Amino acid sequence: MSKDKLIIFDTTLRDGEQSPGASMTRDEKIRIARALELMRVDIIEAGFPIASEGDFESVRAVAEIVKDSTVCGLARAKRIDIERAGEAIKPANSGRIHTFLATSPIHMEHKLRMSPDEVVEAALEAVRLARQYTDDVEFSPEDAGRSEPDFLCRILEAVIDAGATTINIPDTVGYNVPHQFGELIRELIERIPNSDQAVFSVHCHNDLGLAVGNSLAAVLNGARQVECTINGLGERAGNASLEEIVMAVRTRQDIFPCDTTLDTTQIMNCSKLVSSITGFTVQPNKAIVGANAFAHESGIHQDGVLKSRETYEIMRAQDVGWSTNKLVLGKHSGRNAFKTRMSELNIQFDSEEDLNEVFAAFKALADKKHDIYDEDLLALVNEATFEDENESIKLVSMRVCCETGEIPVANVTLNIDGAEHHAEASGDGPVDACFKAIEKLTGIGASLQLYSVNAITGGTDSQGEVTVRVEKDGKVINGQGADTDIVIASAKSYVNALNKVLHDGGRTHPQLGDV
Ligand code: KIV
Ligand code: ZN
Repeated sequence: MSKDKLIIFDTTLRDGEQSPGASMTRDEKIRIARALELMRVDIIEAGFPIASEGDFESVRAVAEIVKDSTVCGLARAKRIDIERAGEAIKPANSGRIHTFLATSPIHMEHKLRMSPDEVVEAALEAVRLARQYTDDVEFSPEDAGRSEPDFLCRILEAVIDAGATTINIPDTVGYNVPHQFGELIRELIERIPNSDQAVFSVHCHNDLGLAVGNSLAAVLNGARQVECTINGLGERAGNASLEEIVMAVRTRQDIFPCDTTLDTTQIMNCSKLVSSITGFTVQPNKAIVGANAFAHESGIHQDGVLKSRETYEIMRAQDVGWSTNKLVLGKHSGRNAFKTRMSELNIQFDSEEDLNEVFAAFKALADKKHDIYDEDLLALVNEATFEDENESIKLVSMRVCCETGEIPVANVTLNIDGAEHHAEASGDGPVDACFKAIEKLTGIGASLQLYSVNAITGGTDSQGEVTVRVEKDGKVINGQGADTDIVIASAKSYVNALNKVLHDGGRTHPQLGDV
């Protein structure tokens, strides 16, 4: 008997971006969307078009570029949101509008201040309006996990009649537990008379660490779409992690009556890309994509795996894209080898000039560092992208003096709007001195919220990748920089963040507004 298809709806670019500090630029979203499409994700929720001009443009750009996946825009159950989402997804080969309205007593009474009848009416109007833009309309009763099943049955039957083709049941606050959430899905599908005219979907948050468990329980009870994010990124404790859902279903085909059509070998690429763009590093013991996910430390395990892999491994590392031979290029590698590896990593250059720029950076790095790994190449691409986007401030040069017992001093030269400026500052340490010199020159006054350094690869010659998070006028922005010298990487990341402060617009949070 052939199995059902489990639809994978990725919301890294929308709910994932709602993680405090995970905001992404339009170009970053395009890079992630391309990687998701290559992995054959069915639906990419690209953003919340009404939130800001930047969000609208990102959804539109993703809709223009992505050809194989459906591109979705989120909208509250409001005319203005739906019109904006409809406009944003217009260029897509296949576009979806996802509209939502809260249905739990607590949300209806305190947040919406609407009666249940008014909520049903607003949901129907939203779905009917969305259908004027596309035949592919998803409706979510927000906080369904704390809503009354009777009311859910009433409103969902009505929105399916009005044209909703996907019904998504969100556990918005991560309150549910697997057996009960699974039963809720079964009950809704059984009791709603026209449930066969829509795909039932789930969207689980991880506040109690149960997002994946709840999603899988729902699949066992009839859900055929799961909403999830790369690395489990998302609001608060995050969403269900895409890689865990997909690999659980793939690995336990003896239990699941469905499977996805994802190319799982792309999982690691997506994970690394999202982590490097957002600065949210993956914990080493994270399932599937953590550095230790396939590492065997104890002698007994190593012995067992060497004798027969199945003794301790339930999946093959290469099936999720862990490469066994990570060394890719070195000082003597030519332009062709470089270009080939880049395209294997799904990195496309818009022009020969862009390719030449990154190739020159690769040669400079290869002079300093003997072995160049995939992670180094991704960092080089990040840097080049940053330079294209952010024209106002560029790091020209820097010199930092540190000595035991002395106060560190940094001399920094920046190019600001085409003119070079120089400043000197001292600080608690070399990075502090450097950031102070940059602040003297730019006067932006952003406050630093996070500073983190990671070695991109192993060894003392590894590049350090620095992520900074700054806040200015309520906007929280990430910056990244990489270099074999971590103080220079720090300066690059700070300059990158400041450029984004100057060039990115603010945004509204989808679940904050009323209807
Ligand atoms: O968590 C939630 O309820 C959401 C909805 C917009 C689906 O993100
Ligand atoms: Zn959510």
